[in-house]
Amino acid sequence: MSGARVFSGMQPTGEAHLGNYLGALRQWVRLQDEADCIYCIVDYHAITLEYEPARLPERVLDLAVSFLAAGLNPDRCTIFVQSDVPEHTELAWILNTVASVGELERMTQYKDKSAGMESVPAGVLNYPILQAADILLYRADRVPVGEDQAQHLELTREIARRWNRRFGEFFPEPQALISDAGRIRGLDGQAKMSKSRGNTVGMLDEPAEIWARVRTAVTDPQRVRRSDPGRPEVCNVFALHRFFTAAEPLATIERQCRAAEIGCVDCKRLLSEGIVRAFEPMRERAAEYRAQPARVREILGDGAARCRALAQETMREVRERMGLRSWRERTAAGG
Ligand code: TRP
Repeated sequence: MSGARVFSGMQPTGEAHLGNYLGALRQWVRLQDEADCIYCIVDYHAITLEYEPARLPERVLDLAVSFLAAGLNPDRCTIFVQSDVPEHTELAWILNTVASVGELERMTQYKDKSAGMESVPAGVLNYPILQAADILLYRADRVPVGEDQAQHLELTREIARRWNRRFGEFFPEPQALISDAGRIRGLDGQAKMSKSRGNTVGMLDEPAEIWARVRTAVTDPQRVRRSDPGRPEVCNVFALHRFFTAAEPLATIERQCRAAEIGCVDCKRLLSEGIVRAFEPMRERAAEYRAQPARVREILGDGAARCRALAQETMREVRERMGLRSWRERTAAGG
């Protein structure tokens, strides 16, 4: 994949959780050695639903620390904040003119988010257009995302094709790199792990806190008594074990669970220990970065400077082909 440009984004909901790591960051870290990777903290997306303005800056910074703690290396990839590059919104407006309301209304995420809302903010409908702008602004070839974003990527490709047909071949059709982690369920064992549902384990939580969270996890709902045999295939604690426990101890846990030789609390204890161990180096790196917020801001500043230059290049071409602004440049040049 050398020579390829990778782009992905994550909403600034504060410190990353297990789902963010397993479903995204793990893959982002791997890709930074294979391609030119640009990773974005998407604060313009984060304001589409109600939020607290006073807390947004700290959420952005906390997510940046999580990126760095997870192993993103600013010497090998570019990390930046979306609103530091205003061209995202300019291109989003432009792409609004080639996308249709009907296709936006067909997005399942839109349907889920807007269901039951009395008044749906236009930004909730247009969210995938901003996402398309993020990707196309850098003419990215590959976009690592979870499977819930596959539909947005398909729309991005359609928008790129349509723009290219009208204004000339320019945007590559970006390919989704769907994470192999599958859907990471939260501690409730039902919904996708997400901050807004409160079903997460923080990636940077202290060991005691990890245990306090993991012990509340829902297991096989049919296993009521300690003596009931368990069903690992439906148990979300077992599903999480797959990421943190080696094959052999995992097989033992599976057998002992089915035979009711270990209880759910024992099993959760082992999972908690596995999580604590896996994220130990990340907790240490996070502590280092938290102690030097100026360094984190500098990394984001450098990232934004690079992205602004790339974005301006794209927008010059886009404006030129669309007949926008070029009159001013010609006038300035005396043409
Ligand atoms: N919508 C994505 C999510 O919720 C975040 C995102 C915004 C994104 N812009 C992007 C992902 C561009 C990939 C590429 O996960």
